[in-house]
Amino acid sequence: MWKAWGVPKLPGTDLPIVQSPMAGGATTPELVAAVADAGALGFVAAGYLSAEQLRDRITAVRERTRAPFGVNLFVPWPDRADSRAVDAYAERLAPDAERLDVALGKPRWDDDDWAAKVELLLADPLPVVGLTFGCPTDGTIAALQNAGSAVAVTVTTRTEAADAVAAGADALLLQGAEAGAHRGSWTPDAEPVPLATLLAEVRPLTDVPLVAAGGLADVDAVRRILAAGATYAQVGTALLRSPESGAPPLHKEALVTRTGTTITRAFTGRRARGLVNGFIRDHGPDEVEAYPQVHHVTRPLRAAAAKAGDPERMALWAGTGHASAQDAPAAEIIRALTP
Ligand SMILES: Cc1cc2nc3c(=O)[nH]c(=O)nc-3n(C[C@H](O)[C@H](O)[C@H](O)COP(=O)(O)O)c2cc1C
Repeated sequence: MWKAWGVPKLPGTDLPIVQSPMAGGATTPELVAAVADAGALGFVAAGYLSAEQLRDRITAVRERTRAPFGVNLFVPWPDRADSRAVDAYAERLAPDAERLDVALGKPRWDDDDWAAKVELLLADPLPVVGLTFGCPTDGTIAALQNAGSAVAVTVTTRTEAADAVAAGADALLLQGAEAGAHRGSWTPDAEPVPLATLLAEVRPLTDVPLVAAGGLADVDAVRRILAAGATYAQVGTALLRSPESGAPPLHKEALVTRTGTTITRAFTGRRARGLVNGFIRDHGPDEVEAYPQVHHVTRPLRAAAAKAGDPERMALWAGTGHASAQDAPAAEIIRALTP
């Protein structure tokens, strides 16, 4: 890793801006390539993809840019779900499924094809690998580093940060409470911490680059977080409305027509921040902690809602800065966010 501003830098970054990996469709190869060409660090979102799909996704980005970019993987969670609670929750969703004329998915645990994706990245390394939902201590980090990748680990608490540094992380992705979509926490009980607090707690612990994420959607917010000691600002929601983003049109529209986000387990069984809608209001009170089981149950319902033009049953993931998200080319958004 090379040095700038007196601190180690991540490869592929001319600007202090990192694009959030956004699994589930928002992060297209066009988005990653546009961000990378603009001089920020782009991330392919490997979550929910098979290893084979990930390989194709990486190829598609390489066809569009020669700039370096990273890949983000979901670290598997242990299967800790109470299957009866998941079944009971699924029963309560039946009227929504009926309304959309779709069958709910079967609850199941999976590891998101973790081992095969790691294998792929060891055989064909990228400059940066991001890990979220946990931090492996089985030699995977060292193996990725030996293959030539810098490893960045998402942390949401001071304890996770200290543990990630001890595990050998080259950089920390600090995810504040304000962040859109899933919490990257390593355990279900980790309470969301506001980004400024998290940064103040973690900065004294380590010299590794700190990538700060959560609610950063205009240049003033970016300037403030960099002044507070972040090495980079990571932005997700701010890019969701760009033409390169694969977010459904209703999701793009909702970012500026709806107000108010909340953290809920209702859609996937794992805490995530989204715009408040009917599904959250109806099912938030009954939510169960069961990821990825509930994700698999609601997936067809969410897809059917998007197809039917029903924003009340879609997961409208959004960070707290959603109202500032611009409908502009990704490169323009990156330039506008750069102090
Ligand atoms: C639609 C969406 C999907 C996301 N998917 C991922 C993901 O696949 N992996 C990941 O590490 N973080 C994911 N995140 C969270 C981001 O890494 C980051 O924490 C967040 O975008 C920062 O907050 P902001 O959206 O307010 O900018 C996602 C965020 C959004 C909005």
